[in-house]
Amino acid sequence: MRRLFVAGNWKMNLVRETGLALASGLAQACPKSHPGVQVVVCPPFPYLVPVAGAIANSGVELGGQNCSAEKPGAFTGEIATAMLQDVGCQWVILGHSERRTLYGETDALVARKTATALASGLSVILCVGETLAERQANQTDAVLDRQMAGSLEGISASDLSRVVIAYEPVWAIGTGLTATAEQAESAHAHLRKWLSVRYNAGLADSTRILYGGSVKPQNAKSLMEQPNVDGALVGGACLKLDDFLPIVRAAQELRPA
Ligand code: 13P
Repeated sequence: MRRLFVAGNWKMNLVRETGLALASGLAQACPKSHPGVQVVVCPPFPYLVPVAGAIANSGVELGGQNCSAEKPGAFTGEIATAMLQDVGCQWVILGHSERRTLYGETDALVARKTATALASGLSVILCVGETLAERQANQTDAVLDRQMAGSLEGISASDLSRVVIAYEPVWAIGTGLTATAEQAESAHAHLRKWLSVRYNAGLADSTRILYGGSVKPQNAKSLMEQPNVDGALVGGACLKLDDFLPIVRAAQELRPA
């Protein structure tokens, strides 16, 4: 049975005071590591250090929202994987659709970032997902195949064990439109099949595949109870404890300690 994974992507939201209140509340609610559910928060870079302090010795883990593909050096404005680790991150989100569409990140760049992050010891939340136009043109599976192949180019089977995939249909992100449980399950099953062909059945079976896109307390359980949905990558609803905690609790109900 795969351990469920619930991650909050704060994106470019909150400030020190509100972020620390949220992180402290979450740490209090999740005082120790839960055997059935892993909980991760990904604040903006300036708040990684104070949030790391707020969640120290709790069951909540820390992630960055992006990283450089380069080793430390003359790259103004970039953040090295070693820096993320230095401030307590175990995780980094890569290939998010906002990075792909707003900042022109290609599959090739995402693959380079993934390789750098894994080589430095971080684990990766790798995002893929189709646009509405692609879905309507029946291109969903082909887009996912292309993003998976491109973003995992050169990543070995042993490294893949530190990758979590996040299926985030672009049309569901921040729109209030959630994929139905059936749509999510179908895309996740396709992604798992892809992993079994590209890697092997065992690795495909053990890799967590998260759903992201307007996950709310109201829909979290029905999504996460799908056989191939192993958790949630949450945007808007992770910014308030009253919304994020019920999503964590829904996962804990599905995988009791
Ligand atoms: P929303 O939950 O706001 O739709 O965002 C999802 C997301 O992009 C998480 O990475």
